[in-house]
Amino acid sequence: MLDKRVKPSFIVRYLDQYVIGQDEAKKILAVAVYSHYKKIAKSQQDAIEIAKSNVLLIGPSGTGKTLLCETLSRILSVPFVTADATSLAQTRYVNEEIEAILQRLVDKADGNIGRAQHGIVFIDEIDKLKATDGQPRSISGESVQHALLKIMEGSPVKLGNAQYIDTTNILFICGGAFVGIEEIMSKTHGYGFISTSSDDNQNILDRLNTRVKPTDLFEFGLIPEFTGRLPIIASFQNLSRQMLVRILTEPKNSIYNQFREIFRNEGVELSIDPKVFGQIAEIAFEYKTGARSLRGIFEEMITPILYVVPDNSDIHKVVITSLFTEPSFIKKP
Ligand SMILES: Nc1ncnc2c1ncn2[C@@H]1O[C@H](COP(=O)(O)OP(=O)(O)OP(=O)(O)O)[C@@H](O)[C@H]1O
Ligand SMILES: [Mg+2]
Repeated sequence: MLDKRVKPSFIVRYLDQYVIGQDEAKKILAVAVYSHYKKIAKSQQDAIEIAKSNVLLIGPSGTGKTLLCETLSRILSVPFVTADATSLAQTRYVNEEIEAILQRLVDKADGNIGRAQHGIVFIDEIDKLKATDGQPRSISGESVQHALLKIMEGSPVKLGNAQYIDTTNILFICGGAFVGIEEIMSKTHGYGFISTSSDDNQNILDRLNTRVKPTDLFEFGLIPEFTGRLPIIASFQNLSRQMLVRILTEPKNSIYNQFREIFRNEGVELSIDPKVFGQIAEIAFEYKTGARSLRGIFEEMITPILYVVPDNSDIHKVVITSLFTEPSFIKKP
């Protein structure tokens, strides 16, 4: 079912080509996916049923949660679908919508129910399902949580064409920014009292303190039964300026590489001084939207150049040395 080469380290190496940093989350996700398939392969031989471990990805906006899952879906030879909890929270027909997600999974498996039953469903923006006070329960995020709970636990779901799909072995990955969770954590955490001597391993205490606890998610607005179905939690870190620079240049399909390609198609070489990436990262860092604003800032710099280049066939190289000075156009000799 899973390619023999696909070990957790293989998955991480692949993810590294597209997603910068977030090493901890990559490892957790890789191990979860790997174990999931090992368990299925084993439970087909053995009598012992091993419970699956769905995964929750938590972290600030624009730090790579969705990117990581989409990248992951590309190497797994199993059906993988993405759904958005925001639309689930907005519809009155939650069960129909969930059925549609599972139907897409079956379609991805070319109609093979057996394969679909071992697939992965990524539900993004799960934090939009938080229970809010004063909302009638029937249309609240809470009722969607209840509906999802059922399929995450594993239950037969009837599809449109009278077929049934059993969700027991489907791996669910949920993702969300959970804005405000840090304040909740800072209120409720503090394992300092465990420390009996100053020699206690500060690393272990730090790790306990940065862990998101189920009770934090409960206080945020996820019902306990729901968080109980997401035993593995991977936290995403804020992106540093240095990571933002790497995102601009390092991934296979980085913004810089994409624009170099666009210029190459015009017969022009694009050369940007490393200093410029630092300047772009600095501005993006101020915007506090993770890596999301990098492209916009980059395009603002490049658009005026892309406007003039096609009119001047004698330009063969463009050199940008600063975000705040004019670029140099180097002409063919
Ligand atoms: N760690 C990263 N490595 C490479 N690119 C990244 C990284 N994080 C973000 N990006 C870039 O920023 C864009 C937005 O990231 P993504 O959609 O994964 O954010 P998110 O964590 O899902 O945020 P949200 O909580 O708002 O949905 C991506 O398309 C990608 O181009
Ligand atoms: Mg996202």
